[in-house]
Amino acid sequence: MDYNNFESKSAQEILQWAKNKYGKKAGLASSFGMEDMVLIDLLAGLQGDITIFTLDTGRLHEETYEVMERARSKYGITIKAYFPDKEDLEILQKDKGFFSFRESVENRKECCTIRKVKPLNRALAKLDAWITGLRREQGITRVDVNKVSLDDNHNSLIKINPLADWSLNMVKEYIKANDVPINALHKKNYPSIGCAPCTRSIKTGEDVRSGRWWWENPEHKECGLHPQS
Ligand code: ADX
Ligand code: SF4
Repeated sequence: MDYNNFESKSAQEILQWAKNKYGKKAGLASSFGMEDMVLIDLLAGLQGDITIFTLDTGRLHEETYEVMERARSKYGITIKAYFPDKEDLEILQKDKGFFSFRESVENRKECCTIRKVKPLNRALAKLDAWITGLRREQGITRVDVNKVSLDDNHNSLIKINPLADWSLNMVKEYIKANDVPINALHKKNYPSIGCAPCTRSIKTGEDVRSGRWWWENPEHKECGLHPQS
């Protein structure tokens, strides 16, 4: 299949195609950030069912759990949470403490691997396709994101990024026009939200992902969920 043909399709068209083709074998990976809430709202307006899952790292903000619960009740969705392996965490915290991720990029990636990447791999093992809220505008690590592609990093699953060409403004406009619930932290200048100890608010004019792992250089700002191939 020539996945380039999807580049001219709208987010709705792509999501409906994914629902028709994969049904529950397509999974939306949701951190319940603004983009993922737009996707949940779009999916709610389309026929069919898909899987919605989240990676509960154990270090999320209280506000993130609150918006998950609001999404559950507003849209009547089932959210499957994947947790880190408890032995991995027990060893990590015993050996390196509770903030090892601040000490080096290597340690940070080790924590992300345990808390995000390994649980993601468990989630993807059950799926044929996964949907994410990635946008090209989000930074230098994401400029080449396709709307639909073969994901060579994950056993050649199909990776679907329906909002790849959306601007942040389009996301915000959609949320306003459709009264979509959002994480309360977005209103406190957190455009991009991950784990609590690795996310902070940004100042006007700063890059949208500058509050993520703010102590690292921009080229390192991926946790392994979306490695560049
Ligand atoms: S991250 O890799 O830096 O953490 P980001 O927060 O920008 O990613 O989110 C990009 C996309 O990755 C989200 O739209 C979502 O599809 C997926 N994602 C990120 N974090 C999670 C999570 N905790 N659970 C499920 N999906 C996630
Ligand atoms: Fe660990 Fe921070 Fe990565 Fe969360 S974002 S998994 S706390 S290093």
